Amino acid sequence: MLLHTIKEVREQVKEWKKRGLVVGLVPTMGALHAGHLSLIKKAVERCDRVVVSVFVNPIQFCPGEDLDKYPRTLEADTKMCDDAGVSIVFAPSPNEMYGEGQISSNDFLTYVIPPFFYVNKLCGKSRVGHFDGVCTVVNKLFNIVQPDFAFFGQKDAQQLIIIKKMVKDLNIPVEIVPCPIVREESGLALSSRNKYLSDEDKKEALVLSKILNNINSCYKRGLTDVDALKETAYSFLNEHHELEYLEFMNQDDLEEVTIADNNTRVFIACKVGGVRLIDNILLGE
Ligand code: PAJ
Repeated sequence: MLLHTIKEVREQVKEWKKRGLVVGLVPTMGALHAGHLSLIKKAVERCDRVVVSVFVNPIQFCPGEDLDKYPRTLEADTKMCDDAGVSIVFAPSPNEMYGEGQISSNDFLTYVIPPFFYVNKLCGKSRVGHFDGVCTVVNKLFNIVQPDFAFFGQKDAQQLIIIKKMVKDLNIPVEIVPCPIVREESGLALSSRNKYLSDEDKKEALVLSKILNNINSCYKRGLTDVDALKETAYSFLNEHHELEYLEFMNQDDLEEVTIADNNTRVFIACKVGGVRLIDNILLGE
């Protein structure tokens, strides 16, 4: 069932809750692919009713980013959800979510701001304000749907860590379920933004997973010094790649590490053909 208003979703969820049904939420920005589908399948398995939100959230895009050209494929998304056993696809307009004219200026909206320590690194460094927008919209979705479980991908590992922190700090009554990264056979992590890549760029985009896999192999052979592990990346890079970051962090609290262990997650962001791609790996996996 495709719904566009908060009121309709609330009414439906209220009815489910009365019957004691377990509700799952999968927040997305649409252009659904097999990565999203893995979250949806997990949700359908685990919950009696599943809501998938499809909303290209304007307040998490920075000026100059791809808000306008972000792929919008609601019809195909709804079909994929229907086929997977989703009960509601919630696709609100920006005005439905934020009220008329509210998002033209930050001055008129209440935001949920995650801690500086978690956002002044990795993607938060170049995407200033991005995680404020993510936390605000996810918090709103939690309030609208009141799910028992909410499903997020490790693909956006910093986002997942920040959302877990928000849920803990604000005592939000939802259990966050992390889901593994889905990749193409080539190793490329699936992303809605892969649509921007030419065939040539797609080959060059393999550099992210190659660097991560190589670091993991070196780690498994006994190399734990982070500087030495970082060094191994550079031979993979050429003029098609613009490395934004390659960082080693404790996966629970995003503390930087100098000696890697099995709790270290390696994060990479790299532009390929002008398209910004991210990936990560947990060492020892
Ligand atoms: P979006 O990029 O559409 O991703 C929705 C969810 O799908 C996220 O939890 C993301 O981590 C997961 N996902 C994307 N690609 C994946 C892959 N290859 N393997 C596994 N999971 C994958 O993330 C967002 O939207 C937004 O920031 C949102 C949370 C919806 C807030 O607007």
